Amino acid sequence: MVRRLSDAADAAVTIAVDGLSVPARAGETVAAALIAAGFWAFRTTGVSGSARGPYCMMGVCFDCLVAIDGVGSRQACLVPVREGMRIETQRGRRPVRP
Ligand code: FES
Repeated sequence: MVRRLSDAADAAVTIAVDGLSVPARAGETVAAALIAAGFWAFRTTGVSGSARGPYCMMGVCFDCLVAIDGVGSRQACLVPVREGMRIETQRGRRPVRP
């Protein structure tokens, strides 16, 4: 179980994760917000379909990739949340765009 150190509700924002409304705090990263909301599998691998989630929380492992506002393969641990942000977990390979 993971919980925030403080229950302060100030600077609350709302983001959408796979179509669900999720509360977050301004300034925290997308990865922190998703973990606090109970999301652990951020993506699945393109070969085996294994679930992957944040590991390093500092931009090294690339296991936290999600689509943010329609842009795929963003590192959730490096992007701060903002009001209305749309996040999609990624399943398998991403299509190659021309
Ligand atoms: S958690 Fe490792 S790069 Fe984001």
